[in-house]
Amino acid sequence: MLENLIKSMPKAELHLHIEGSLEPDLMMELAKKHQVTLPYSSVEEVAEAYQFDNLQSFLDLYYLGASVLVDENDFFQLMWRYLLKCKEDNVVHCEIMFDPQTHTQRGIDYATFMNGFTRAIQKAKEEWGQSSYLILSFLRHLSEEQALETFEQARPYLHLCKAVGLDSSEKGNPPEKFARVFEKASNLGLKKVAHAGEEGPPDYIWNSLNILGVDRIDHGVRCVEDSELMAYLIEHQIPLTVCPLSNIKLCVFDTMSDHNIVELLNHNLKVTINADDPSYFGGYLNDNFLSVYRSLGLSKDQIIQLAINSFEASFLPESNKQYWCQRLNSL
Ligand code: ADE
Ligand code: ZN
Repeated sequence: MLENLIKSMPKAELHLHIEGSLEPDLMMELAKKHQVTLPYSSVEEVAEAYQFDNLQSFLDLYYLGASVLVDENDFFQLMWRYLLKCKEDNVVHCEIMFDPQTHTQRGIDYATFMNGFTRAIQKAKEEWGQSSYLILSFLRHLSEEQALETFEQARPYLHLCKAVGLDSSEKGNPPEKFARVFEKASNLGLKKVAHAGEEGPPDYIWNSLNILGVDRIDHGVRCVEDSELMAYLIEHQIPLTVCPLSNIKLCVFDTMSDHNIVELLNHNLKVTINADDPSYFGGYLNDNFLSVYRSLGLSKDQIIQLAINSFEASFLPESNKQYWCQRLNSL
């Protein structure tokens, strides 16, 4: 049964915002603990509020939700719960984005969230061998100056990060705004990713590649609007970290049956499946896989290919990639 294969095969998750894994029950618990006022009176009301028209309507609630994260233990709990979910979903490797500015802008210091995150990551590694990398993401609706300042504040913690990323409101905030901070990161040997072509035009994908020099594109589903870009992504096997349930919740596609992920896979693009912000969009990695499978249909070979892509597109060392791909090829 292919649903069992989806659940049981080893997978990597490459596009996950840790702040987007804050479940309503933890949000309510922490709001009470820190006396943060939220416009919800129950877990059910939180879930009901998660109806979005576009990216911005989601981001407004995402930043509001993150305001309950205050002390080191809150950040530990958040990360720990996500890592437990990885174990349950057989996500053996994850590359997790976090938004420092979402916290530093509220007066939370780097040590608070970095210590919480790394303590959970270390515990999961010790307990069941969970492999995890962190991706420091800049908020693109803020200024270049603020991104540069954030990068300077992050310096003592950069050895704990594998890459830098770019997220938040895409339209009107083109990648080239962050060319200098990405160059600084690159000079230190950090990998680079950027959200592009989620709501923004194909040009944002081109500029993320040509100006920021990214190693992969987060989302990228609007690449189909530019045939030259499609050819480039195929030729260079640039990974796209696609997030199916997110795209439906944020109205990038009307329904899962309209999603283009299988079309992209059939064109030999290196696409992967990811959860983005699972507590806001209705599911973790296996839920995303199962939703695509049920609405669009996937063959056994396509399911295995998507998992192989997740390792090949990861920042793991070659030997680890080979180990997981061989295991997948033997299923
Ligand atoms: N931050 C969290 N999730 C995001 C998404 N899907 N796009 C842009 N920024 C985000
Ligand atoms: Zn995202």
